[in-house]
Amino acid sequence: MTSTYDLLASRLQKAFDSVAPGADPVLRPSDRSDYQANGVMALAKQVGKPPREVAELVVGALDLSDIATVEIAGPGFLNLNLSTKVFNSQLREFSSDARLGLEKTNSPKTVVIDYSAPNVAKEMHVGHLRSTVIGDALARMNRFAGNTVIARNHIGDWGTPFGMLIEHLLDLGEDKAVAELSIGDLDTFYKGAREKFEANDDFKQRSRLRVVALQGGDKETLRLWKILVDQSVAYFAEVYKKLDVTLTPDDNVGESFYNDMLDDVVKDLTAKGLITDSDGALCVFPPGFVNRDDEPLPMIVQKRDEGFGYAATDLAAIRNRVSGLKADEILYVVGTPQAQHFDMLYAVARMAGWLPQDVRCEHVSFGHVLGPDRKMFKSRSGGTVKLVGLLDEAIERADAALVARGSELSEPDRILLATDIARAAIKYTDLSTERQRDYIFDLDRMLAFEGDTGPYLQYAHARLRSIFRRLDAPFSAADATFALESPQERQLALGLLALPEAFDVAFSTLQPHKLCTYLFDLAQRFTTFYEACPVLSSEGALRAERLALCELTARTLELGLSLLGIAAPQQM
Ligand code: ARG
Repeated sequence: MTSTYDLLASRLQKAFDSVAPGADPVLRPSDRSDYQANGVMALAKQVGKPPREVAELVVGALDLSDIATVEIAGPGFLNLNLSTKVFNSQLREFSSDARLGLEKTNSPKTVVIDYSAPNVAKEMHVGHLRSTVIGDALARMNRFAGNTVIARNHIGDWGTPFGMLIEHLLDLGEDKAVAELSIGDLDTFYKGAREKFEANDDFKQRSRLRVVALQGGDKETLRLWKILVDQSVAYFAEVYKKLDVTLTPDDNVGESFYNDMLDDVVKDLTAKGLITDSDGALCVFPPGFVNRDDEPLPMIVQKRDEGFGYAATDLAAIRNRVSGLKADEILYVVGTPQAQHFDMLYAVARMAGWLPQDVRCEHVSFGHVLGPDRKMFKSRSGGTVKLVGLLDEAIERADAALVARGSELSEPDRILLATDIARAAIKYTDLSTERQRDYIFDLDRMLAFEGDTGPYLQYAHARLRSIFRRLDAPFSAADATFALESPQERQLALGLLALPEAFDVAFSTLQPHKLCTYLFDLAQRFTTFYEACPVLSSEGALRAERLALCELTARTLELGLSLLGIAAPQQM
């Protein structure tokens, strides 16, 4: 079905085109009318006529039939008010559509989403939280839109640190090491290795030899390496479960997966004449990239010691994703500090002919999570803040809040609910912040039932569901007629009709916060409506109309939250 916005936009476009082809009507929701078209002023400048006159021309050419009425306001704004007929037909269609008017794409794409990507034997930190939460929301939105999502958890499971990690494992003894890793004490393990590496020359030497053995494919070394990987991956899986993200073990395709493809990367780049030998290191210099001193910046493909690094692996991965996985689109959900790496990666991949112009590659970057002191979020001892710890604390606090509110749920049910609330609190704060901006990790604010929070939206949804639990007879929205006589009803209805537009914008710009803004606005419209318009105590057609608005609002909140990876409990 065509969204209300698109319906108006296409009619307006025709009228604007008749004055000057291609002119943008600049259609927006408005608080002075249902919608407003603000494009007349720019158009007037373009054709060199007074705005009022141009507004008259547009209105004269505008065929709105019975969709809406139009009025010229101020210097040339067009105020549009929808007809009751449009409200009725659109809202009824939404009612009978499980997707609430959100269409599936008719040209499904294969979208590779590279997200989460923690590092073996290292604690997952808040940067991985952001990548995981944002990546998962994008995955859900893409699947819902009808695209095929291939998630790639590009785990850091290879490289020189494994020399010291394996030696440390041997020093501790396998059993003790496994015990430490399996309780998720990754940081203690990593630190232990690091400290020895820095203080002890003998250990350093052993570690170096171990790296050589690992790269040479030594069987015993690989067995030990695998212990580290398996233990860490099992721990990551627990975190994903606790967070309720859709990543599965099949999505774990770590850096080591590309080892066999690295020689070929070098070969192909060399054959294409793109490799420059710089002090023994093999590099590509993509045009346009310079350092602070204006010298060309290399992408190091193979180091002087013949080892491969992060860049080489990403080159192999992009090649594999385009030619092997047949990706139409690749999204890298990684923090902003890696922006240059990705720009260079795409540049080199395009130079090598591995990345056709029509494959969309996007670095979905994001800002930092800050502590209450507005500095980088660190634990009291200055180390990494454990994600699991944060989540557990959020669950505990949410549970305490439920008890304080006099929750009548059994303890296991209450913990389940507290878990849903805690996840919502953490995920929603992350997703509702404009991606590139930093935010402060403040559990009290995140968990609040008031304000722009996940729990507030969950609560609005649960309140709506409770209305239906109190009904004495089954309710059918099909019987409702939308007269929308009170302004609060009309505002709520307009909010409901705006879902497709909100989803499209959030989805096409890869900005989940736009969907959050929409949902929060809708919840507020509902609150205003609910204060002004009695539902259960009204009668007849009015009651049916209001119940239908409530039902659509509940479904919209539930669907919107699910696209963000947030559950909408029936009762809170
Ligand atoms: N493991 C890396 C980190 O922790 C992130 C990897 C992102 N993905 C990629 N294809 N480079 O910083």
